[in-house]
Amino acid sequence: MLKAKRYTVTAALPYANGPVHIGHLAGCYLPSDIFVRYLRMNGADVAFVSGTDEHGAAINIKAKSENTSPQEIVDRYHKIIGDALQEVGISFDIFSRTSKEIHHQTAQAFFTTLLEKGSLVEKTTEQYYDPEANQFLADRFIIGQCPNCSFPEAYGDQCESCGSTLNSTDLIHPKSRLSGASPELRNTTHWFLPLDHLSPKIKAYIESHKDWKPSVYGQSMSWLDSGDGLQARSMTRDLDWGIPVPVEGAEGKVLYVWFDAPIGYISATKELKGEAWTNYWQDEETKLVHFIGKDNIVFHCIIFPAMLMEHGGYHLADEVPANAFLNLEGEKISTSRNWAVWLHEYLVDFKDQQDVLRYVLTATAPESKDNDFTWKDFQIRNNSELVAILGNFVNRVLVLMNKYYEGALPEAGALSPADQEMLAKLKEAPNEIAASLEKYRFREALNAFMNLARAGNKYLADEEPWKQIKVDPVRTATIMNIAAQVAAQLSQCMEPFMPFTAAKLRGYLGMDKMSWENLSQQELLASGTVLSQGDLLFKKIEDSEIEAQLAKLEASKKANAKPQYEALKAEITFEDFSKVDLRVATIIAAEKIKKANKLLQLRVDLGFEERTIISGIAEHYTPEEIIGKKVSVVVNLAPRKMRGVFSEGMILMAENGATGELAFCATDEHLPNGAVIR
Ligand code: MF3
Ligand code: ZN
Repeated sequence: MLKAKRYTVTAALPYANGPVHIGHLAGCYLPSDIFVRYLRMNGADVAFVSGTDEHGAAINIKAKSENTSPQEIVDRYHKIIGDALQEVGISFDIFSRTSKEIHHQTAQAFFTTLLEKGSLVEKTTEQYYDPEANQFLADRFIIGQCPNCSFPEAYGDQCESCGSTLNSTDLIHPKSRLSGASPELRNTTHWFLPLDHLSPKIKAYIESHKDWKPSVYGQSMSWLDSGDGLQARSMTRDLDWGIPVPVEGAEGKVLYVWFDAPIGYISATKELKGEAWTNYWQDEETKLVHFIGKDNIVFHCIIFPAMLMEHGGYHLADEVPANAFLNLEGEKISTSRNWAVWLHEYLVDFKDQQDVLRYVLTATAPESKDNDFTWKDFQIRNNSELVAILGNFVNRVLVLMNKYYEGALPEAGALSPADQEMLAKLKEAPNEIAASLEKYRFREALNAFMNLARAGNKYLADEEPWKQIKVDPVRTATIMNIAAQVAAQLSQCMEPFMPFTAAKLRGYLGMDKMSWENLSQQELLASGTVLSQGDLLFKKIEDSEIEAQLAKLEASKKANAKPQYEALKAEITFEDFSKVDLRVATIIAAEKIKKANKLLQLRVDLGFEERTIISGIAEHYTPEEIIGKKVSVVVNLAPRKMRGVFSEGMILMAENGATGELAFCATDEHLPNGAVIR
């Protein structure tokens, strides 16, 4: 059973520089929503907060790349992200934005408090400066080789390949993302949060949470132990987009995005609860749970707690159930390569099938290690689990109930051992699901839920009410009563995972949402209740739907494919090159060569003479279309006999390695034939 009576549940604020994809959903929005829906059914007092993270260099970079303003970018994506998350049923109590006034004030006041307490140290350091763009470069504006894994496109603050946190000066061959220039180091002044003296306190805090996921606990401890992690971190940046540093003379400087963003959780709670916000942040009895992806662990387990400790008065996170990453069809999801399933696109392509995505992403959630999403698996899980097990069970119950009793639930008679066993499972299911949910094991919880549907199917198959109805109406009534109780239990336990289908099913059963506690304590449906037959809960997903999704991915792969280049040949000297005699010529005749599909026999005018040349271009050009063309010819190649004809030279062609297309190497049309090419 739940231990706390009040909960603050946060879901990482998504950057408002692009839409969210299934990786984000599986990483933190879905698990947090399942957890919160469960808490609400328990009658807990919950604040479920999130919103868009609208500062930081990532927003600037996106705006630059689209030639628009950061404001336009954040407005656009706040709407796209917020709408999509709402449509997929993420039931935030508030989905705010860090550009709001209340947040600017809260973050600035937080900074000022740290400053007044002497928690921040002003330091002048060397920072990278872009001499072409005339500005200091935030970490995200610098790209270079990762010193740990050699990934060539690591950012100045983090390598997205190996996940390590970096300083921009760690990068090998750094480059400015603004101009491409090599940045130079110049002096600038910033406010730093020293972490070294906090180390024992932070360590004790982490060590008091040995129950955290091994990845979360492990990553936090190794960060603390690396020594590196405890260097002072700059809490301000030289940028023109963000929350101004509330210090006189600090023009052009803003709060570091990882300073302001987590404070966004607090601002959103203030916006939601007004004065009562302190109950959710400053009360030791309130449980604080951060749902995040694994790339956010250090910020939520160390830096944000350090900020809160220094500020004082705050309760630190009790749980940080971070998920690993979801891959797509065996490859890392990538925004820049458009290798993703975008939530807003899914919602169009699979209209009214939010719960299918919720189900599949929960069943395959990257809870302890990275996991793979494939469209084939999506289809299989829908067709052979949701349709064939859950949907099938419910449908059979409702159809039989309407056929035999016009929907009115009959009373149960004497119970057989099989009935008692079914009822025991029905009572146990909510406890099992709850135990897993409270341990943040969402896959396990979902499996416990599906096991109840499996048991229901087996019960019907074993008891065969469709045979009993002909011989023993009393027995049939008992079976159908119990089967209906199972359907009712499913409709209640389904709520956290698949809220849309749960509401639909409760409607068919004439039920309201119940309190979780009551699910294993009372009969769910009273006899006499009229159940309507309703529509099928789930529908089959066809091969064609999956193929369309795979084709979409294939298309983005093609669009992003880097051209293949042939390996370079060995170096030659100038003398080697000057042995080749290249001249301009005009093709004056061309014909096909019999029985040679690839070859054309050409006659070229070199000005000083005409020659016959055999060229392997017949699959690319017809004789007619090349007569009159100016071409480049190698004229001192030893003649070669092909198909009984001497070829006295070679026409230069270029080949597109990706498509296999051939084209003549351009020569200026005005050049006289015989002109030397060098
Ligand atoms: N915007 C960040 C990301 O997408 C997450 C910010 S979480 C918060 O990685 F705590 F800072 F809000
Ligand atoms: Zn790396």
